[in-house]
Amino acid sequence: MKKPLIVANWKRYIEERDVALAAAKAIARGVGKINTTIVICPPALYIDAIAKAFSSKGVAVGAQAVSSVAGAMQTGELSAAMLADLGASYVIVGHSERRARGEDGEAIRAGVEAVLAEKMSPILCIGETARDASGEHYDVLTSQLREALPKLSPADAKRLVIAYEPVWAIGKSAAEAMDARALEETVIYIRKVLAERIGRTAALAVPILYGGSVEPDNAAQLIGAGVSGFLVGHASVEPKSLLAIAKASNGASKHH
Ligand code: 13P
Repeated sequence: MKKPLIVANWKRYIEERDVALAAAKAIARGVGKINTTIVICPPALYIDAIAKAFSSKGVAVGAQAVSSVAGAMQTGELSAAMLADLGASYVIVGHSERRARGEDGEAIRAGVEAVLAEKMSPILCIGETARDASGEHYDVLTSQLREALPKLSPADAKRLVIAYEPVWAIGKSAAEAMDARALEETVIYIRKVLAERIGRTAALAVPILYGGSVEPDNAAQLIGAGVSGFLVGHASVEPKSLLAIAKASNGASKHH
């Protein structure tokens, strides 16, 4: 069985360097006892320090976003090359909080390409804003995947990670997260669309994460739905709860 992949998206919860470093330290210390890979995605300006002090076998560092525009005359933008230089090996691309502010399919695809060009792993986020009985959310996922995925070489396909984050389930509590049965169906659907896009063998190997109110209380049940791990927001900022999620995911995962 493959190790679960647990990605901590700190968003903007932590706004002080010392607090970020202390949290990373606690996570790095705890992960040694759990057979899991934890990717810490702090605000970009802490990537360097965290990567230097704490990246190890169990801990990698990622960025929360990447610039999708080319060229040097881009005020305030952080390129994939800069993030790689800081020590990031993963980059979250197309998070719903950025889509909501105007990041479109074209920008997301450019971001995925930029991340792959630097030999980092893009964590491509997809997810519907709402669900109803008509099943339209499946169409949303299909078009998000088609828009965002460039042509991938076999080496690039090996680096791809998909994070399924239904927007309606983000930032709530375990009780309001998605239920495991609906998640299982959705993961099967996503893998089918991926297979059309990158081929069946490559699609089978792509880790599909779930995000949206993952907490220690629901992690074991959700990992049983065939996901390879989680993209965790609010619960990832507290090292104890992130480690509890990692522990609950380990052993319960049925993804091969
Ligand atoms: P929460 O875990 O706070 O719901 O956030 C999920 C998310 O958006 C992670 O990227």
